[in-house]
Amino acid sequence: MFLTNEEQKMLDGEFGYATQKSMEILAALGDIFGAEKMVPVTSVQIAGVSYHNLGDAGLAFLEDFSRDGKTRVLTTLNPAGMDLENWKNLGISEEFAGKQEQVIDAFKKFGVITTCTCTPYLIGNLPSYGQHIAWSESSAVSFANSVIGARTNREGGPSALASSLTGKTPAYGLHLAENRQPKITVDFRAELKTSSDFGAAALAIGKIVKEKIPLIRGIKNANVDQLKNFSASFATYSGTAMYNIESISPDRVCEIPEEVVTIEEAQLKEAVDFLNDDTEVDFVSIGCPHCSINEIAEIAKLLKGKKVTKETWITTARPMKQIADNVGYSKIIEESGAKFACDTCLAVAPLKGRFKAIATNSAKGCYYGRGSNGFKTRYMSLEKCVEEATK
Ligand code: F3S
Repeated sequence: MFLTNEEQKMLDGEFGYATQKSMEILAALGDIFGAEKMVPVTSVQIAGVSYHNLGDAGLAFLEDFSRDGKTRVLTTLNPAGMDLENWKNLGISEEFAGKQEQVIDAFKKFGVITTCTCTPYLIGNLPSYGQHIAWSESSAVSFANSVIGARTNREGGPSALASSLTGKTPAYGLHLAENRQPKITVDFRAELKTSSDFGAAALAIGKIVKEKIPLIRGIKNANVDQLKNFSASFATYSGTAMYNIESISPDRVCEIPEEVVTIEEAQLKEAVDFLNDDTEVDFVSIGCPHCSINEIAEIAKLLKGKKVTKETWITTARPMKQIADNVGYSKIIEESGAKFACDTCLAVAPLKGRFKAIATNSAKGCYYGRGSNGFKTRYMSLEKCVEEATK
């Protein structure tokens, strides 16, 4: 693999210990995947932030690198294992909180902006079309490739950190134009109204296309919240980190793929049925991926003057909550008894055993609710989630 003078110096240790180790990680990855060179990145998003997933070994790795490692590009974090300010109110133990704070402190030493969110593009870590980036969170990777047109593979936590400390990533996979072309055409013939409809559609499409990037025809309009939900679900249920929706995705399609599949109302209903267990709910969680300010406004409108009857979490980025505080949405939501869980989410918080069944508007949330936490799931629109929370 070709390395520039600067990259070679990094590898030789002239820029310090953490930069050297980082370049070793990236060069090894490049060799494995047949990259010919490195490309500069303009943005990094690092997953593997929850102490629940990292454990002491992961924490030791970060502390080792934080001896002399410094970020070279804008870098933010994926959700942590708890709300970094309000963890007590959300039932997190002192011991877990102490360890999670150590993880965040290690990231702070690198110069990482310790905003813990899976929607970095909503809070200022927003690349532009064609830029190379190194992001880890699967829903954000899918959004970046398919909606923004930035270029990223799905990075692991260590490789994303390595890109942050060197400003580089090996040029393979979705960094190369030829690997971003669709390989299957999906004719979509069903009506989509809510964000949860988009999540179900992505599940149905993802299961059929598997590793092939689809060109999706027939979805005429989609707002950012709908595409956010679609991206998360598609990343969860397909085997690829990119889709192309005709007239919405910015990447130019050179050739319409000959293989064509059709998705109709029946498959959409099947997807919804797949996500719905026959169960009573004791936990409602909205915000997977993290809520936008628009969604928080909608929740506040629906909750106004009502009380929740079961544990209800609104997961979002802290800057989004701060906007909600300023305009009064938080007060309405918190007066209802619902709780904000900033910086975290149901997949990375230690929730196993605390609840039996979750209601959510996220198809990805159902996957992790079942897989990580052993919950039964109910899948419904944001509006129905609020109804469920208050009934
Ligand atoms: Fe985000 Fe957690 Fe969902 S990382 S996409 S809220 S599972």
